Amino acid sequence: MLYILHTYGCQMNVRDSEAVCAMLDASGHRLAPSENEADLIVVNSCSVRGKAEDKALGKLGLLCATKRERPGRVIGLMGCMAQRLGSGIFDKVPGLDFSVGTRRCGAIPRLVARVLAGETNICEISDPADTPDVPDAHTEAGFSAFITILLGCNRRCAYCIVPDVRGPEFSRPAREVVAEIAALARHGVREVTLLGQSVMNYGRTNEVWDASAPASPGGFTEPFARLLEAVAAVPGILRIRFTSGHPSGCTDQLVRAMRDLPQVCHHLHLPVQSGSDRILSLMRRGYTRADYLGAVGRLRDAMPDFALTTDVIVGFPGETEADFEETRSLMGAAAFDNAFIFKYSPRPGTPAADWDDDVSEEEKMRRNQVLLADQDVRGLAANQALVGSVQQVLVEGPSLRNAARWSGRSPGNKIVVFDPRPELTAGTLADVRISRAAPQTLYGDLVP
Ligand code: SAH
Ligand code: SF4
Ligand code: F3S
Repeated sequence: MLYILHTYGCQMNVRDSEAVCAMLDASGHRLAPSENEADLIVVNSCSVRGKAEDKALGKLGLLCATKRERPGRVIGLMGCMAQRLGSGIFDKVPGLDFSVGTRRCGAIPRLVARVLAGETNICEISDPADTPDVPDAHTEAGFSAFITILLGCNRRCAYCIVPDVRGPEFSRPAREVVAEIAALARHGVREVTLLGQSVMNYGRTNEVWDASAPASPGGFTEPFARLLEAVAAVPGILRIRFTSGHPSGCTDQLVRAMRDLPQVCHHLHLPVQSGSDRILSLMRRGYTRADYLGAVGRLRDAMPDFALTTDVIVGFPGETEADFEETRSLMGAAAFDNAFIFKYSPRPGTPAADWDDDVSEEEKMRRNQVLLADQDVRGLAANQALVGSVQQVLVEGPSLRNAARWSGRSPGNKIVVFDPRPELTAGTLADVRISRAAPQTLYGDLVP
């Protein structure tokens, strides 16, 4: 069948979608040139905020309505909303053929076969205690790939649905992760992004290193720092990124691994959520404002070119103007390169959902706008500070806006636009001297 996938949510969903595409290809299906031509459509959903679920539900409704003209069409749901709603989804979305939970996406080719054999309303939701079924299949992915190394989350921040829909933490064996990356590198992958909700928790809840594995050449004893070192040793891997960070993971070994392993980009996505100790404690984030700024200080001291990005929630239950101002001042003190600001959205079943959602929608909107405006100024200043510097970019190819120019990303994950040379190929490193900065983009010239 010709198929198409629609992916909402975070990089973990992007990774899962990629695996599903590879498995569908292996079962004889083919990617459709457009949705209109697709006979099989799978929506990979996110539950993190109410709006994310509304989007997937809206899309599913439209897709299922097309079955009136195209009765043979197969429509499926996967991802976090599938996991959260279980078989309840079939009442919300009449016409949906199957729904599959987060640790079961490996089942999709079999579910499609069952639908083609006449079954419908098939629900395959994982039990949190299940051993995860993580296909390590990849499509011909180009030169950059996501690798999920840590599934689930044990942290249970008061507002967050992720532990419910992604289950408890499970760290994949290091041997398996390194083998997957080595195979990708042989197929031309040059950059890997290691994924986990608190990625530096890798190997803290289950054993990941075989007793027989050779000792770390750099003397790393912490499982995540040791993994970074092992991935850096894979021939062909030019760049390593990882996300998301948590201040508790910013240990001396982590900082040393980032500083000393040349493949590891000097960039960290370290979601702060709030700058108020009172709100951080209600959120159950497990750190204070001082802990957070302390971690940032250690990273910056070790790496002068360190780039920092974050997530912030505005309008958490009980967030006062004074709390909000604390967040505002923290953002200035941390000097973020980029920040994603979210309006608090109560998620059913989380502790915070029982608390009064007492910041009005207008006020959430205002706080959101204020932080975005601050960040625009700060982001532009951070980019302007790079004018005159030489940035090593991983070349991606023609830029989206203007195909005559090429773009790539700096170690700090900024988009860099430059004029190509005939001999330049995608997936290689090149040096670009920055001549101009915009809020989201750097411009410059290749250095011979
Ligand atoms: N594991 C990551 C975050 C994953 S969810 C971490 O802890 O850093 C991605 C982002 O969505 C979070 O950082 C948070 O800013 C936002 N988010 C999560 N739950 C939310 C909610 N209920 N309302 C609004 N934003 C939320
Ligand atoms: Fe959610 Fe907190 Fe886990 Fe991140 S660390 S996924 S915010 S519970
Ligand atoms: Fe959304 Fe699930 Fe990711 S809830 S943010 S897709 S882990």
